[in-house]
Amino acid sequence: MHVARTGAQLREQMQHWREPDSRIAFVPTMGNLHAGHLQLVRHAKAVAGRVVVSIFVNPMQFGPQEDFARYPKTLEADQAALMDVDADLLFLPDVAELYPDGVGQTTVVEVPGLNAILEGEHRPTHFNGVTTVVAKLFNQVQPDIAVFGEKDYQQLLLIRRMVADLCMPIRIDSVATVREPDGLAMSSRNSYLAGADRMIAAQLYQTLLDVQGILLSGERDFAGIEQAALLQLAEAGFTADYVSIRRASDLARPGPGDSELVALAAAVAGRTRLIDNIRISTV
Ligand code: PAF
Repeated sequence: MHVARTGAQLREQMQHWREPDSRIAFVPTMGNLHAGHLQLVRHAKAVAGRVVVSIFVNPMQFGPQEDFARYPKTLEADQAALMDVDADLLFLPDVAELYPDGVGQTTVVEVPGLNAILEGEHRPTHFNGVTTVVAKLFNQVQPDIAVFGEKDYQQLLLIRRMVADLCMPIRIDSVATVREPDGLAMSSRNSYLAGADRMIAAQLYQTLLDVQGILLSGERDFAGIEQAALLQLAEAGFTADYVSIRRASDLARPGPGDSELVALAAAVAGRTRLIDNIRISTV
């Protein structure tokens, strides 16, 4: 596996790979790789001849009270895991490479509307940080395909919107959430969960499964279902930020005729904030 730390090194290596019949797939990550990330890389390998993975803990997407400084860093293990799944190139830029004039001075890529609801209400600067860094990474790597996990469902829709709005010739593929045996969605932040918090954490997905069951039974009182789910999370020991049933295509509030839905939730167990979602097709 090749390693590039600068855009110049990346281009130098990748110029040999850009051939008419060969596609390049890209998996952006913040490292501390788990089985969910490796599933993204496996998907990338299946759809493209070459796979580039980036590891960059992006300061711009963390709020002032968030865990940027303590975000887990496990580069050696990440490199070994990426070699196991046969990634072709690891891009490891530093902050100066992606933010030459500093994070506060950068051009911002913003997806209006979608960036301000749900996660955006609780983390107001988060999505501008995500779309800005992903646009920079796309410009550096220039992939044919980029692969994202469905666990960050709102992020996935934002990236799709950004790519369409900015006419980026990149196909966005998504991969289903990988879960622990008890249902907890894999996430780098799960490493913060200890003892009782880890036990509570699995109840987030269970609550979403219950929401799915109620919707599939024909109930359409969305506000009532959301309230019951919030209560269920509180009883399990969470401090819940939201449970929200939305239209899957654009995260708008669903009307009576909408059948493709997604239920999204964010809740804090101990000091660890978790998000998860479940797709529901009521046709
Ligand atoms: O999902 C993530 O890990 C990050 O938000 C991403 C897409 C790598 C951007 O920093």
